[in-house]
Formats: sequence, structure tokens, C-alpha cells
Amino acid sequence: MDNRPQWGTRAGFVLAAIGSAVGLGNIWRFPAVAYENGGGAFFLPYLFALLTAGIPLLILEFTIGQKYRGSAPLSYARLSKKYEWLGWWQVAISFVIATYYAVIIAWAMSFAVFSFNLKWGDDPTSFLVGDYLQLAAPGEFGGIVPGVFIPLVIVWIITLGILFKGVKKGIEIANKIFIPALVILFLIIVIRSITLDGAVAGLEAFFKPDWSQIASGKVWVAAYGQIFFSLSIAFAIMVTYSSYLPKKTDLTNNAFITGFANSSVELLAGIGVFAALGFMASQAGVPVSEVVKGGVGLAFMVFPQIINEMPALNGLFGSIFFICLVLAGLSSLISIVETFVAGVEDKFKISRTKAVLYGGGLSALISLVYATRGGLNFLDAADYFINQFGVALAGLVEVIIVVWVLRELNNLQNHANSMSDIRLGGWWKICLGFITPIVLGYMMIQNIYINIKENYEGYPTSFLLYSGWGVAVLAIILGFVFMAIKWNKGTELEVPKDKGVSQ
Ligand code: ALA
Repeated sequence: MDNRPQWGTRAGFVLAAIGSAVGLGNIWRFPAVAYENGGGAFFLPYLFALLTAGIPLLILEFTIGQKYRGSAPLSYARLSKKYEWLGWWQVAISFVIATYYAVIIAWAMSFAVFSFNLKWGDDPTSFLVGDYLQLAAPGEFGGIVPGVFIPLVIVWIITLGILFKGVKKGIEIANKIFIPALVILFLIIVIRSITLDGAVAGLEAFFKPDWSQIASGKVWVAAYGQIFFSLSIAFAIMVTYSSYLPKKTDLTNNAFITGFANSSVELLAGIGVFAALGFMASQAGVPVSEVVKGGVGLAFMVFPQIINEMPALNGLFGSIFFICLVLAGLSSLISIVETFVAGVEDKFKISRTKAVLYGGGLSALISLVYATRGGLNFLDAADYFINQFGVALAGLVEVIIVVWVLRELNNLQNHANSMSDIRLGGWWKICLGFITPIVLGYMMIQNIYINIKENYEGYPTSFLLYSGWGVAVLAIILGFVFMAIKWNKGTELEVPKDKGVSQ
């Protein structure tokens, strides 16, 4: 019998999928990636990646999850027993991401509190690496930092608490609260940013197209990388979330809504961030290019500086900005952890409570590595390698297996078309069968070449071997290890009949 949990409403599912997609990647990653890769000209490869890979893959993952009604390992096992490892590999990737993603949310939580009295003082950069993170050399642990540990415990209590409550009462309700709150707070930040002095110069820098970069492979690689991370593709997330959909639901439309909503937030984040950077540059009397930073630097060094310089209500705007990061981060972290909670639940037929306790508990424990004094270095390496050789590679392998090895595209197309308003036609097959594998394949070869030629960020080779390459390879190995473990007798490897599937 199929007693899989289900979303209460269609809106609940769409909000949860948007909650997963909209995350730290939108707010701190996108603006800098766009700027470094041609500004306004980046929108062309970005839109191309969204329409040829992002949305088509999202439709594919929604369809697989909804049709095969299982966590990613179970759905892939039902697609073909031989490829269960692909599901576990993606789950392992999510596991790695969860361990450091939680720590970044913990930093944001601290900074939301620090904002009240601008605790970072006149020099936010030295405050972050010195006073707050007490950063040690690459490879050193140097003990747990209490200022990170405490908010990290809170992040895990919230996340696991929501997951304990289940799909409808936990994940769905949390997203129904987090997402509208995030939109309102984020709009306040964006409106404040664009009304600051110098905002126009920032927006000009952001939107001014630098067409000379468009021919560079690097720009296209960046666009695809951004779309994959941002849309939570090849993370096992979207397969898991759509496995909780009812028998009849509009899959294609849901994917378009999720994809466009995510990109809208990304664009909004770009506008807000660059308007604020324009303000900061005008205060310092320097060009915008001198103040741009991405990732950790943007959120935790540049933004505190901008908050310092705001004309009024500095503390209030500071905490709103960091609360936005916390909300966006939590709704994504919940989805990331749900992948292994669901995987373990299906494989071993244990209760949700136990699955959250074991799966979530283990990831919480491992996340302590990133709460040590050396945490930022481990985080930087793990994040880079798990994205380049985890997410992007798993996405490539996913399309090759589903489209070319198992030749499932026609079946999946018929399934999605039988219940969706927008009908999938030749474009979907061309995108998944040709464009995506060619671009991702090229991207992978280029990435491997670049990373073998030079060490990422100049870190020592031994450090990168275990904290970067090692982590990415371990995720693949774990895929096969988990496949080798037998399914609990109670798990049906056929799709349950009563909730059957339309063919
Ligand atoms: N999609 C999530 C993000 O953008 C993981 O952060």
C-alpha cells in the first residue's frame, strides 16, 4: 500500500520548491557571478542556461519524483535497479552541502544580532576573520568557536524540528511562513538600497553589458553552474519533494513557476546588492569595481560596511538583511536535509522521527567541522569541489543515464503531458538530449583541466586532496555503498499500484 505523505495543497508544494531554490545562492552568489561574467551581457548565457537546462531538468526531476513516488534512491531504483546509486550519490552531495550550509546560516544569525549595535565596528573584515571566526591556517581545526557553535545549534533545532513534523505539517507550513516573510523583508532592503545616494552608479555597473566576455567558455560555465546550484538541481531535492505530489498535478507548469520565481528573486538580489555597492563606492569616492566581492566577502564583510555607512536606522536594516539570509537559507536547508531523511526512511523502513534523528543528527554532528577555527577554509574547499564535481557532474550523469542509457524520455514526456497544461515537445528532448549534455560535458572537461593545472585559491595540494577532491569522490563512493545495502523487505521496488501512475 502506498501511504506516502502528501502536500496539503498545490501552492504548498510550489512554495516549498521555491523555498528550496531561493537560498544563499540567490543573495550572495548570483550578483557577484553576474558582475564578474559580463554584467548585463551575462543575462544571455544565464537565460540560455535557465531555458535549456534549468527548467527542462526541473521538469524531468518533478516528473521522475511524481511518477516513481520515492526519495531519489527509491525513484531511481524504480526507474532501473542498476541506477539506484545515482540517487544515493545525489543524496550524499546534499549531505555534504547541508553540513556547511547550516554553518553559513548560523553566521547570518549571529550577524542579525550583531547588527543592533554594529558590533563589527569600523573594520568588518578583520572582525569577521579575527574576532568572530578566529580563523586558523588551512587544514588546522583549532577548536570549536563558541560564537558559531551556539547559533549552529539553533539552526539545527529549527531545521530538524520542522522535519520531525513531516511534509504537510512541517515543511509545508514552514515555507508558507518563511517565503512571504522573506519576500516582504527583501523588498524593504531592495527599496532602501535603490533610494541610497550612488545607487544608480551601482546599477549601471551591474547592467552594463560587457559583450567582449560573451565568447568566453568561462562565462557559460558560470551561468550553468549558477542555474544548477540555484534551482537545487541534481541535489536529489526536487525528486524527493515531487514524490509527495498527488496522482494528478500540473508538473510542467509547476516547474516554470519555480524556475521563474527563483530567477526573479535572483534579479531582485542583483539590483539590491549593486545599488548598495554603488552607495558604498560613492561614499568612498571609488569606482564600483573596487568594492565588489562575492560569497562570504559580500555578505559578511562588504554588507556590514554598507550598513555602517547608511544614513539612518543602520541596525534595523542590518538585521533585516541578515534575517533575509537566515530565512532563505533555512527553507533551502530543510529541503537539503529532507533528501537523506526520505532516503533513509525508504531504504530501512524506519519512522520519520528516527530518520530525522539519525540522518539529521549525523549531518549536524559533522557540521561542527565548519564551526572550528579552521572552518572557513574547509567550507570554501568543500563548497567549491562539491559544486564543480558533485552537483554539475551528477546533473550530467543524470541526463546521460535517463535520456541515453535508459531511453526514458518518451515515457516521462507522456507522463508529464498527461497531466500538464503546457505540453512538452521537441524542444524539451533537444535540450535534455543534446544541449545540456554537450554544454555540461564541455564544462566538466574544462573544470577538471583547470583544477589539475592549478590549485583552487592557491590552497596546499594535500589540503585540497582531502577537503575538496576527497569530499567529491567520497560522495560517489557512498552512492555505491548505499546501493549495496539491501532494501528493507517492506519497501516495494515497484511503483505502488493503488496510487498508480498514468502511462
Ligand atoms: N538552491 C539553493 C540556493 O540557491 C541551494 O542556495
